[in-house]
Amino acid sequence: MSQVSFDSQVSYDEPSRTFLLTTPATSYALRIGADDSPRHVHWGAPLTLGQAAALPTHDGVTSSFASTSGEELAVEGGARFGVPSLLVRYADGARGVEWVHEGHEIEGGRLRVRLRDRHYPLGCTLHYAVHADNDIIERSLTLRHLGSDTGDDPIEILRCDAASWSVPAVSGARLSHTVGEWSGETRLRRVEAPYAETVFTSRRGVSGHFANPWLMVDAGDADEDRGDVWSMVLAWSGSWRITAQRDHTGGPFTVTGGAGHDGLTWRLRTGESHETPVFAGQFSRGGFGATSRGWHRYVAAHVLPVPDEARPVVYNSWEATGWDVTLEGQRALAERAAGLGVELFVVDDGWFGQRTSDRAGLGDWQPNPERFPHGLGPLADEVRRLGMRFGLWVEPEMTNPDSDLYRARPDWVLHMPNRRRTELRHQLVLNFARTDVTEWAYGWLDRLVAAYAIDFLKWDMNRAFTEAGWPGHPDAERLWTDHTRGVHGVLDRLRRAHPGLRVEGCAGGGGRADLGMLARTDQTWISDNTDADDRVAIQHGYSQIYPARTMSAWVTDSPNPHTGRSTPLRYRFHVAMAGALGIGGDLSRWTAPQLAEARDLVELYKEIRPVVQFGEQYRLTDAVQYRAGDRVVVLARGRDRTLRLAGLSPSAVYVDDATGAEHDAATLLTHGLPLRLPKGDRPSTVVRLTRKR
Ligand code: GLA
Repeated sequence: MSQVSFDSQVSYDEPSRTFLLTTPATSYALRIGADDSPRHVHWGAPLTLGQAAALPTHDGVTSSFASTSGEELAVEGGARFGVPSLLVRYADGARGVEWVHEGHEIEGGRLRVRLRDRHYPLGCTLHYAVHADNDIIERSLTLRHLGSDTGDDPIEILRCDAASWSVPAVSGARLSHTVGEWSGETRLRRVEAPYAETVFTSRRGVSGHFANPWLMVDAGDADEDRGDVWSMVLAWSGSWRITAQRDHTGGPFTVTGGAGHDGLTWRLRTGESHETPVFAGQFSRGGFGATSRGWHRYVAAHVLPVPDEARPVVYNSWEATGWDVTLEGQRALAERAAGLGVELFVVDDGWFGQRTSDRAGLGDWQPNPERFPHGLGPLADEVRRLGMRFGLWVEPEMTNPDSDLYRARPDWVLHMPNRRRTELRHQLVLNFARTDVTEWAYGWLDRLVAAYAIDFLKWDMNRAFTEAGWPGHPDAERLWTDHTRGVHGVLDRLRRAHPGLRVEGCAGGGGRADLGMLARTDQTWISDNTDADDRVAIQHGYSQIYPARTMSAWVTDSPNPHTGRSTPLRYRFHVAMAGALGIGGDLSRWTAPQLAEARDLVELYKEIRPVVQFGEQYRLTDAVQYRAGDRVVVLARGRDRTLRLAGLSPSAVYVDDATGAEHDAATLLTHGLPLRLPKGDRPSTVVRLTRKR
């Protein structure tokens, strides 16, 4: 057999037209089928190119009754009846695609497969990328209108996913995903997949509170430590759709996903290209724990703009003051925050325009003249004098009808002729698909950041799209994609202009927690719910894909303002220490003993921070363990017990930093660490171990 191997990560077998992608622990193979359509061959344990080339594929379906066959990009056309990833309609009314394979390129872990339609001027390139340091396969595609040789009429795009994934038929098919709501995001669910098409989606213009754009599939037998898990994550911050299809004939389980939701259409014109976001996949043999650690490593190495910088301990004034922001009040909070060891002080909503409630001011991004008669300079100077960095809350995509901006630019919001402008939280969405709007936003953000040398922005987005129109634009539904690109573009430009600027992504809590945002932010505000009991579940769901260093978690007051639940200060800290610690309580009401306890806990956090933020995370029962180099940190709650640790080399010996007790790793892994928790309400503890040999 003649084999041509182009690089160690991507190789190609010419006779069978099979491509093999090789990651450190997995293989992925696809083939150009007899009808020139790209067919799925393998995704799982390592295979050689010869082995992959010898595998059979379903090669074109010729029966009305055949099951769906695994395709790399399911299209409409011929005897295909499964869920399509790509739906197009041409000007003459014809639909579907008949592929001609035009060629491919392999270069540095990347594969591009070039296709075009046999008749119509539609070109498509499938992109694959693998990395030497993880098992993630990045996939996306580019559509092109090839223009005049075969016609200049626009091509209508009805659906354009980034990729279809085929999970081999296993004995069962269970889906893991998150569900949620405002104040209750990322709750993990595992359900047996129905024999049906199951759609996970957001139609709100953001990735959303209700489902997060990822999915895991296993045979129903995986757990944290073992089992085969196939996972897919969409790097997109707008509306999206992932459809999982299971049929009872035992064919592969397919998952297709991309930007946009059902019913949106737009036109591709001559010479135009359209790039989808990345829909990445990972196969892991190590259960859900290894799957998550694989995503965490990938996010750190290939997504985050500044992965290796410790996230600072934040103070945010939102829960303390609401919209009641004054120079004196903020100064007093800043002084107390600095006394606790806080490193970054963030003024939340209420500092600008006529923003004394949620009814006015969004869009008028100058300091409120009554509250800050000399601008923000005096406050920023004071914060810096206290040794902290200075951050601000912004919500650039929004305007209140009661604002100077809206009075001047009522046409800048998403709206439709003859339709009401639905207000949610008394605000409307600015159309970030418009370049005049993004130029305006970039302009004031750039000036604001420069004027006060702002270190940190909390970029919020507090309402879903409604009446998402763009009167006068010939192809208005593009705004669903282009708004998101506009937001990403402003963030990218701002960061380039201000390399020291750090950003927290937020959308009414965790309504836009996704890899699209994490590619241009440093952390995520994952929920407005700061109740420590509720946070445990929300953080557990967030950790399935996203790493601890990106998870902002504040300690706030007790009783909790959202839930009314009282919990001990120490427990609130121990729960929040699982991510990037912040404090959001009204420090003016904390007693001297509470402030002293908080100061000690902040100091403890700084000591464990490198392990929590940069270590490997293991979710244990009622505990989270982190390991970085020789150090292990365990944040545990619940009752006295022996807690089995994970991920240690069995021959190692660890010493408890606090007690000096020695533990053989073999014992920690098999029998566990004896946990003695303090008595009282919600016992919790932090255990620190250091490897001795
Ligand atoms: C959203 C955010 C909160 C806070 C408020 C301010 O709800 O999630 O953290 O910033 O907006 O209005």
